[in-house]
Amino acid sequence: MKLYRANIMFTPSPEAFQVLEGGYVAVNDNGLVEGVYEQLPAEYKGAEVTDFGDKLLIPAMNDLHVHAPQYRNQGIAMDLELLPWLNTYTFPEESKYKDLAYAEKMYRRFVHDLWANGTMRTVAFATIHPEASKLLADLFTTAGMSAMIGLVGMNRNGPDTLSNTTEEAVRDTEALMNHLKGNKLVSAIVTPRFVPSCTPDMLKALGELARKYNLPVQSHLSENRSEIAWVKELEPESTCYGDAYRRYGLFGDTPTLMAHCCYTEGEELRLMKENHVYVVHCPTSNCNLASGMAPIRTFLNEGVPVALGSDISGGHHLSIFRVMQYALQISKLKYAESKGALKFLTLSEAFWLATKSGGAFFGKVGSFEKGYAFDALVIDDADLNIDNYSLPHRLERYVYLGDDRQIVKRFCAGKEIAEPKI
Ligand code: GUN
Ligand code: FE
Repeated sequence: MKLYRANIMFTPSPEAFQVLEGGYVAVNDNGLVEGVYEQLPAEYKGAEVTDFGDKLLIPAMNDLHVHAPQYRNQGIAMDLELLPWLNTYTFPEESKYKDLAYAEKMYRRFVHDLWANGTMRTVAFATIHPEASKLLADLFTTAGMSAMIGLVGMNRNGPDTLSNTTEEAVRDTEALMNHLKGNKLVSAIVTPRFVPSCTPDMLKALGELARKYNLPVQSHLSENRSEIAWVKELEPESTCYGDAYRRYGLFGDTPTLMAHCCYTEGEELRLMKENHVYVVHCPTSNCNLASGMAPIRTFLNEGVPVALGSDISGGHHLSIFRVMQYALQISKLKYAESKGALKFLTLSEAFWLATKSGGAFFGKVGSFEKGYAFDALVIDDADLNIDNYSLPHRLERYVYLGDDRQIVKRFCAGKEIAEPKI
């Protein structure tokens, strides 16, 4: 058993923070939270306590949608909308991951910077390349951080340098899954890039693969108006974009993440709710690629699960705190645009999306309730706390103004995570 003392804040529900000023958390030998306490319980009297003083102790961040092989393009090339952006900047960059030395150089930086920014659980797109994808998984394993890695399936409308066949996508995903057998923190996720990149034959095979091994699925959905119009042409029999996945067993038959959903409504919204398909909200990306503003309040009202994603390099920053900030701000534009009909997000709601709601895709992750994996960050915000703010204001200030410099310790599944080697 390990005991930590700090100013503890987390969101058991979206409505409010649970705050323990100078509180205690007990973590058992399996890395799970035993409980949080205002006072040290009698049974732990005399036990060793690690005291973090006036620092903040919060659940670690979860990034449910990010493209690891786009890391070099972070913060550049945002002068185009999605489809020309993919062809001009993204596909050529991803094509480079055939070269394992290049992949290693970039993936090491990527995993290191996730660590720096306090993200302990990541669901990542890799590329079509099996060796580089395996390497990415191994870097997470070595770091002790949790991840689901997607070997990408794409066999139409991309360059030859970034295309695989249906057989290769299935075989290489299976190989990645087998490589990660018994790995408690890192696993494989079935990853058709998006409908325009995958023939019906590939979609069908990947749906079968997901069901055969009960593997989770990730893809993109209703991100951009031109993309949606294109999917209508490619899949004329589908009732909506989401239905094009559903028809191939890729829409909630196994746990499923769909990034963006800027224009999801009506039938598509109903299908997501019915099939418990996650929306992964990527507000930095949606701004940069001029895609649109996802109706997050509607999703929450309807009970559709929602998580947050950095979507590098559509998104420009790995920090999920930054993503939270954009989610809050976009929800306010949506509020103004809807003349107040769609209430904007509160800080506790945004924090809950980043922690407990996103974490749920990994199991009991993202909270300090009993039985949850102890994924945590210790934040030393002394430099930001210039006039003794309240604890909720300290956290709000950190979300808006903080960065990796204030994160002084990181834990994943109960273990302290050291800085990964670049
Ligand atoms: N849709 C298909 N591929 C991508 C990608 O790499 N990034 C984003 N934002 N959307 C996509
Ligand atoms: Fe994406």
